[in-house]
Amino acid sequence: MIALSVKQLTKTYANGAYALKGIDLDVAQGDFFALLGQNGAGKSSTIGIICSLIKKTAGKVIVFGHDLDTEPNKAKSLIGVVPQEMNFNSFEKISQVLLNEAGYYGIPSKIAKERMEMYLTVMGLWDMRDQTGFKLSGGMKRRLLIARALMNEPQLLILDEPTAGVDIELRHTLWRFLTQLNEQGTTIILTTHYLEEAEHLCKHVAIIDHGEIIEHANMKTLINRLDVQTMILDLAAPITTPITLNGYPASLTDETTLEVKIHRHQSINELFQRLTEQHIHVTSMRNKTNRLEELFIGLIADNKRGN
Ligand SMILES: Nc1ncnc2c1ncn2[C@@H]1O[C@H](COP(=O)(O)OP(=O)(O)O)[C@@H](O)[C@H]1O
Ligand SMILES: [Mg+2]
Repeated sequence: MIALSVKQLTKTYANGAYALKGIDLDVAQGDFFALLGQNGAGKSSTIGIICSLIKKTAGKVIVFGHDLDTEPNKAKSLIGVVPQEMNFNSFEKISQVLLNEAGYYGIPSKIAKERMEMYLTVMGLWDMRDQTGFKLSGGMKRRLLIARALMNEPQLLILDEPTAGVDIELRHTLWRFLTQLNEQGTTIILTTHYLEEAEHLCKHVAIIDHGEIIEHANMKTLINRLDVQTMILDLAAPITTPITLNGYPASLTDETTLEVKIHRHQSINELFQRLTEQHIHVTSMRNKTNRLEELFIGLIADNKRGN
């Protein structure tokens, strides 16, 4: 089953800004999908249209087989959205924000109350239930938006930059929560500019650049396409003379830190053999940048060159 199908989606804003140039996307049921792109690439425009917050110029959006144009209520009932910008009424008690949301979906008040209690608790906001939005910290507001998106128990949850400006601890809590939700069957789409987050969470990925999809692939397949990885090796003892590791471009960034480039077809075992031969002991090793990030930068640069 296809959870979301977007066909030839186009958006031109009133001021003439061309945000989406006819994009196609397919997201399977049960997927955890990342929509990646630089600022201004068109992520929020895409999500806004899928969630009926923004009017499309042309194209089709189909949610679990329901066309957003011909069956808007059915399609909307299956979606939950966490927008990039906070858009709830801060004058209201946060419990009321959730109850109002349930009201939009015609959820009976008893069920609405149960869900409100459950999702405020899950998001660690139960103690704040009688406070207005003004009393919430940035992280709490983000969690409130997530609780609100869950009120209609959506089959498809869409999050636009859910962890932007969120501290590390909350980020990890959200990751665990979203992973669990996905394991229970909810299809999740998120946009993020933390590529580490996308690599960690997502099964499939699309990269959007200047309103066009330039990549749409399985995350593992995509990462495996990376030709060269740069590894940082911490050394047990300082090295003062330049070293050569036949076939592995290497440079010292300081006396105890070695940067080595490893091609996809090369073996790390062999690299370590060379290091051992030269009596160089390594205490730890890590990727210089996140692998998805290396790929992403390459793809965006290629697109700019018109490849
Ligand atoms: N309300 C708007 N009016 C005019 N242009 C807009 C509006 N919203 C977004 N844009 C433009 O559309 C393009 C895509 O923006 P957006 O979808 O917000 O990108 P992203 O979420 O990937 O950063 C950008 O060039 C942006 O300036
Ligand atoms: Mg955005």
